[in-house]
Amino acid sequence: MTQLNFEPLHADFGARVSGVDLTRLLSGDELEQIHQAIDTHSLLCFPDQNMTDDAHLAFTRLLGVPEAEHITWGKTGEVEYFGTVGNVLDDSTKQDNAHVGTKYQTGNQLWHSDSSFRDVPSYVSILHAYEVPGEGGATEFASMRAAYARLPEELRGTIDGLRVIHDYVFSRSPIAPVDPNHAASLPPVAHNLVRQNPANGEKNYYVGSHARSIPGWSGIDSRRLLDDLLQRATRPEDIYAHQWQVGDTVIWDNRCTLHRGTDYDADKWRRRLRQTRVIGTEKGAIPGL
Ligand code: OGA
Ligand code: MN
Repeated sequence: MTQLNFEPLHADFGARVSGVDLTRLLSGDELEQIHQAIDTHSLLCFPDQNMTDDAHLAFTRLLGVPEAEHITWGKTGEVEYFGTVGNVLDDSTKQDNAHVGTKYQTGNQLWHSDSSFRDVPSYVSILHAYEVPGEGGATEFASMRAAYARLPEELRGTIDGLRVIHDYVFSRSPIAPVDPNHAASLPPVAHNLVRQNPANGEKNYYVGSHARSIPGWSGIDSRRLLDDLLQRATRPEDIYAHQWQVGDTVIWDNRCTLHRGTDYDADKWRRRLRQTRVIGTEKGAIPGL
């Protein structure tokens, strides 16, 4: 039986995993170890993977149901499973700092959880690095599970029964106009502010750039609470910064972590990573909102 090896990446969460080649058909036992490791560690880095899009999608399907990329789906109705992260287009040309596409990607430099703006948010994202900058362009991660555990008892009591609205148009409009069809495909959704991992019972809160407001609270009180929770999760010592190496496949648990991209000089460097996501199982929305 294959035994995967785990080395910690940060005191709170994250592990570097060796002993498995993600590009071949994995056994049920290996998949079970990966699912359990996601529940336990929240972030897994598998170095030196000889990845292709086909193998990436096949692995995504082994972990669950792939999520349609929301921009293409919202605009054209086509289902496309991959998103490209970075500044390299499908035809291999590079977008520089001045390009509008580079500006759109700066939305990902705000702390977020992928697809938290969806009715059924994502379980995990799987991101593979093909080209990485010589400097900059790390992806930073933080754990909302560790942050929940650190909360004062009183604040935990305040947030435990609350709901939170996540809204893509709210978070992205300040960065660039959202295409009307895309906006129409993503109405605001409500989730429980405190979520629990179904396998191990660990609790976390669920905020980030898409978190807009608490139903029934004033805008300013909502903002204060959501900003406070975000800040408590993302102090410098809470962050694991992943410096990408070509061949890294990184999986993170969107149910309980936040991440953000960091700056790099797009005039100077090429950065190309490919991403898929697996749909979660928890529906968080209030019907009819
Ligand atoms: C992502 C993401 C940011 C980056 O892949 O979901 O937000 O630039 N990436 O690494
Ligand atoms: Mn993201």
